[in-house]
Amino acid sequence: MIVIKQPKTRDEFKAYYDLRYRILRKPWGQVRDTEKDDYEPISQHFMAVDEETGEIVGVVKLFEKEPEVGWFSHLAVDRAYQKVGVGRMLINAVEEQAKEMGFKRLGCMSRLNTTKYFEKYGFHVEGLPTQYFGTTQVLWMEKELD
Ligand SMILES: CC(C)(COP(=O)(O)OP(=O)(O)OC[C@H]1O[C@@H](n2cnc3c(N)ncnc32)[C@H](O)[C@@H]1OP(=O)(O)O)[C@@H](O)C(=O)NCCC(=O)NCCS
Repeated sequence: MIVIKQPKTRDEFKAYYDLRYRILRKPWGQVRDTEKDDYEPISQHFMAVDEETGEIVGVVKLFEKEPEVGWFSHLAVDRAYQKVGVGRMLINAVEEQAKEMGFKRLGCMSRLNTTKYFEKYGFHVEGLPTQYFGTTQVLWMEKELD
């Protein structure tokens, strides 16, 4: 069974950032540490764990973009676990957390090839595409929270 947890120990954070790097940065030929940004210390971190193996198979984080607006980023699922609902579980977790934190809107910078994915969960495109890591383009998507 896959469960959502928040990393707490040093080893959990190590595995958490490692998955981020493998899925989000290594394919672009980026070096280690490019998977982190300035918002790490003020972020809520979530990880999907396969309880049978103890392996971290998905990650995402959430932080305040501006008053009443949450921003989730660095959503990544291990290739072996993609398309079985792990991404959906992580988005649900950040959405619940965003509501608890009192955010009225929640959004993310989506790659062009994931806009359809986020639309499934009620997000719509709000911004224009901007260049990201000189490799791809991303644009802001968001939704209102109830
Ligand atoms: C994009 C990503 C996070 C999706 O996570 P996932 O766990 O594979 O997705 P889920 O299993 O929750 O997908 C649920 C549905 O979305 C669909 N889907 C998955 N990726 C999609 C995509 N890129 N575009 C459109 N639909 C997509 C699935 O087929 C599934 O459809 P179904 O419910 O009709 O069967 C994951 O594939 C990933 O880590 N990709 C590489 C990194 C990345 O692009 N991160 C996002 C950066 S903005």
